[in-house]
Amino acid sequence: MTSLRSYLTGVRCLECGHEMDFHPGLDRCPTCKGVWLDAKYDYDAVAEIWRNGLRGRVNSLWRYIELLPVLDPEQIITMGEGQSPLLRAAKLQKRLGHPAIFIKDERQSPTISFKDRQASVAVTAMREAGIQECVLASTGNASAAYAAYCARADVKLWIFLTSLVMADKMREAALYGAEVVKVTGTYDQAKKVAADFAARRKIHFDKGAKAVPGKESMKTIAFEIATELARQLTPSSEKGGSFWKAPDWYIQAVSGGIGPLGVVKGFEELYRMGLIDRVPKIGTIQVAGCSPMVQAFAAGKPKASPVVPETRITVLATGDPGLAYELLYKASQTYGGHMLDVTDEEAFAAMRLLAKTEGISVEPATAVAFAGLDKLMEQGVIKPNEIVVVNCSGHTFPVEKYIMDEENLLDVRLSHSAIASAVPVDGLGAALKRLDEQVTTIVVIDDNPMDSRLIRRLLQAKKPYRVFEANSALEGLQIIRDRLPDLVVSDLTMPEMDGFALLEELKKDPLTAKIPVIVVSAKDLTPEDEARLAGQTASIWLKGSFSTQDLVEHVVDTLSSSEDDNPSPARPHREREETKEIVAQRAGLAAEPNTALAEVKKVVLVEDNPMDARLISRILQTSRPLVIKQVQVGREAIKVIKEEEPHLIVLDLIIPDMSGFQILEELKRDKKLDTIPVIVITSKELTEAERQLLISNHVSSMWQKGKLDREKLVAHIKSQLS
Ligand SMILES: Cc1ncc(COP(=O)(O)O)c(C=O)c1O
Ligand SMILES: [Zn+2]
Repeated sequence: MTSLRSYLTGVRCLECGHEMDFHPGLDRCPTCKGVWLDAKYDYDAVAEIWRNGLRGRVNSLWRYIELLPVLDPEQIITMGEGQSPLLRAAKLQKRLGHPAIFIKDERQSPTISFKDRQASVAVTAMREAGIQECVLASTGNASAAYAAYCARADVKLWIFLTSLVMADKMREAALYGAEVVKVTGTYDQAKKVAADFAARRKIHFDKGAKAVPGKESMKTIAFEIATELARQLTPSSEKGGSFWKAPDWYIQAVSGGIGPLGVVKGFEELYRMGLIDRVPKIGTIQVAGCSPMVQAFAAGKPKASPVVPETRITVLATGDPGLAYELLYKASQTYGGHMLDVTDEEAFAAMRLLAKTEGISVEPATAVAFAGLDKLMEQGVIKPNEIVVVNCSGHTFPVEKYIMDEENLLDVRLSHSAIASAVPVDGLGAALKRLDEQVTTIVVIDDNPMDSRLIRRLLQAKKPYRVFEANSALEGLQIIRDRLPDLVVSDLTMPEMDGFALLEELKKDPLTAKIPVIVVSAKDLTPEDEARLAGQTASIWLKGSFSTQDLVEHVVDTLSSSEDDNPSPARPHREREETKEIVAQRAGLAAEPNTALAEVKKVVLVEDNPMDARLISRILQTSRPLVIKQVQVGREAIKVIKEEEPHLIVLDLIIPDMSGFQILEELKRDKKLDTIPVIVITSKELTEAERQLLISNHVSSMWQKGKLDREKLVAHIKSQLS
């Protein structure tokens, strides 16, 4: 297999016709930004190779590598998908009085549906492109398939499913380690939520039928059918003559349409290479409660209008097929074909009959194709001697519910009016915000279970975070590696492995190195301890010097500040903002007219640590409504203080470009500024000489971070601003 390779030559944009080179990460046209892309190959070269059959190749869809979009065969992620049996349906033939009905049995695929083909090719492309995280919206089966293949490829997967998808399917995806997000809305809305989520977090979004790998993968169904039909139907006298044979019909239950799009393309390629004599007609079967394609087809329209799905067969609930319909409509005009729908009940009846007669147990979405076959026969659309292949796309569903619980599933709810709208709605902001909180994962490590539980409960009382507790550093490390949380809150002194060793372990691994860690410790830190922790933690809290409530608020602030600045907190690449305005939003004030701000007192907060700045501004604002300007460097601080002439300056002593002492010196030179009261809040242990120096510089009070007496500080601020 190693000498075999892809004969891919480039990609064409289906929206504007632009031709471009292929690379595995390519997901939109550089000219029109369109996302419907189509791969092209060197068909003359491939025809030469394929003409005499493909003996001795791997037993998976990768045997057709020449016409698949993979650059490096070493990167292929496979579980033997494809090469499914083509079964002669003797009982069906008899019942329908038709001589040539075949079942392409996709139930034997690794995750029991034909979506494994797509997952194998798409995840391979992700691996080639170096993509490590992916978002997918699915009506059900693609989720299990992608989850399984992503597990093999070490790609973190976020799956967005509608809440109507069977819990069993959700559990299966969760079992493979995917993050499953349940969206209360239609599939098209779930897709929109997923796309927004991916865009905000800058994660790769799988574009299904639109992207190159999806459709290419489904071509292999056509290649296999043609190979198998030749083997089964070519008389032995002709053996060796033809290795490929096309059926007259390919029939499939259709939702988004990726299957038939790929199958048509596969047959077109075989035809173009002179290997088959026709491209089959496509029988597109939809469920009556969600049949936008069938409705457009019946009306002779080349474009479909979106519908709101109303069917229990949620796997087929794509309400807005977009360009997929236009392409299938065009294929039907070129090669013939038909689209019709069946009711849920007709599908359930077909499901029972198929199991009892052929011994084939299928899920309702698959049964739709068989109910459709009956109708196509009944209506005389399929002619007496035509060879028919029906895609048996997925198996009935098994039993993960006994081992997975609902805790693994996340929930997003859209309003009823939003759900009733056929087109994806905007204004999903609130749902997304809640989702951001829900997918925010925190690991709390404390060897005292009472402490970890208290922190978890308080956090979850504030926001719907996912909080995992560990009662040893080792257990914590394991959870951190599994979950890659957004934040860790850890005790320092623990038996076996302590917090210091934990931090060192986290720093060693690039995947965990950037996760912020808040250290909570009962230990008085020695200078050596402080040196070991320097730069390793987001903040340090000494037990006894703060309330748990303060800590929890700090955690919430830390997470929401990293969310504001950067939607993906675990992967910070924060641009340093030099000045930030935090306008007081206390109850009442926000509703008052802007003029109220004129009387609001101004504070300049000189603090380079954003988390400390958040905490301090919160404390400042409990005294009264304020406009707080936060500045992170000394040079900027002086400029802002000169411009603003604030009522109060809050100063950290250790900031990047100047010391607090130097800033005070600068201020002393300007008469107007010299009179502004200054509060110093610092983590620095002050010597007596330093204290005296600060007092002589009109510093009204000095406070040590980590030992802040909140009430006293609030009272002091009040007195300074009154
Ligand atoms: C079992 C099954 N059959 C049919 C379909 C419809 O497939 P397509 O995306 O090709 O329309 C799906 C889609 O999820 C499916 O899972
Ligand atoms: Zn284009």
